[in-house]
Amino acid sequence: MQESWIAERMRHIDSSGIRKVFELARSLKDPVNLSIGQPHFDVPEPIKQAAHAAIDRGDNAYTVTQGIAELREKIQASVDARYGHKDRQVFITSGTSGGLVLALCCTVNPGDEVVVFDPFFVMYPHLVTLAGGKTVYVDTYPDFTIDLDKVKAVLTPKTKAILVNSPANPTGAVIPRDQLRELALLAHERNIVLMSDEVYRVFCYDEPFSSPAEFNEETLVFDGFSKAYGMTGWRLGFAHGPKRLIDEMVKLQQFSFVCAPSIVQHAGVAAWDYDTSRIVSDYRRKRDLLYDGLKDRFDIVKPKGAFYMFPRAPWGTATEFVAEAIRNNLLIIPGRTFSRTDTHFRISYAAEDKTIERGIEILNRLAKR
Ligand SMILES: Cc1ncc(COP(=O)(O)O)c(C=O)c1O
Repeated sequence: MQESWIAERMRHIDSSGIRKVFELARSLKDPVNLSIGQPHFDVPEPIKQAAHAAIDRGDNAYTVTQGIAELREKIQASVDARYGHKDRQVFITSGTSGGLVLALCCTVNPGDEVVVFDPFFVMYPHLVTLAGGKTVYVDTYPDFTIDLDKVKAVLTPKTKAILVNSPANPTGAVIPRDQLRELALLAHERNIVLMSDEVYRVFCYDEPFSSPAEFNEETLVFDGFSKAYGMTGWRLGFAHGPKRLIDEMVKLQQFSFVCAPSIVQHAGVAAWDYDTSRIVSDYRRKRDLLYDGLKDRFDIVKPKGAFYMFPRAPWGTATEFVAEAIRNNLLIIPGRTFSRTDTHFRISYAAEDKTIERGIEILNRLAKR
């Protein structure tokens, strides 16, 4: 095989950061693993039963591209009740990631710029590259909220979209409602597509969830079932936004993902009715357990959502600190994986309490060096 077989765009896609952590992980025996970006609980029983029933009934074929009516209508009713927008249409995607791929491919022209907040979810810059665009970063250190002046400073005639994620991966930050409002109004005023990744929507611990769609009717929202119901491997998500844009995304889905997995869409109907409040309060308690265990020795912005914490490394670069943690049997992820800056590291508290407690003990010991 010739190297020239590989497309130029793949040279700009580098997965080495996270891969290195997982390679190191494989060499450890019984590691304290606080690196995982998914819930630690299994899919709840009623949702599993709905998937089994769908298989047994024979619901195993392609579905319509936009998703089965039963699921779509349920989500549409809840989106309509929340926003009351005339032109807001729901469709079912293959995970939140599927929605992101479609949206960027349907909006970004070669050379267009997409604003992404740093730290960011690892996929964003790569998907912008895939769509032929250029990622423009806006720094959110040290408190991981949005400074509107910094956003205004990077806007150019080529700015096509702004991609916001709250609650956020990797920081656990929840963007304050007034900042989301300012951002939403700015996007509207400058005719920029505002995209909101809300996959951690249910994991808000200190205040109710807010979406920029409350302030800008044209916001395109991505959401999914992976995190709230432990369904990461089942690949179910949904998007909602202006009908004209959703129609284009459905058109592209028809010739790419085809449809979200049929069985999983049927299970999604049961998931939508499943009460996640017990899961969320358990994660709130885990957040407090980890924060209280680390706050005296680490510089941490207390996260208000998702299931991550993003403390500053107490010495060295984050990569150096994480390498030492891994040598001490603790798996965490260096901030450089999610950022242009290598000062912080991500801890996931989607884990058993005893794993979190062992992690706290190791981290406090390492901080003293
Ligand atoms: C911010 C963010 N968006 C999207 C995703 C992908 O979600 P899904 O499994 O629904 O594709 C993740 C998963 O880690 C995430 O952290």
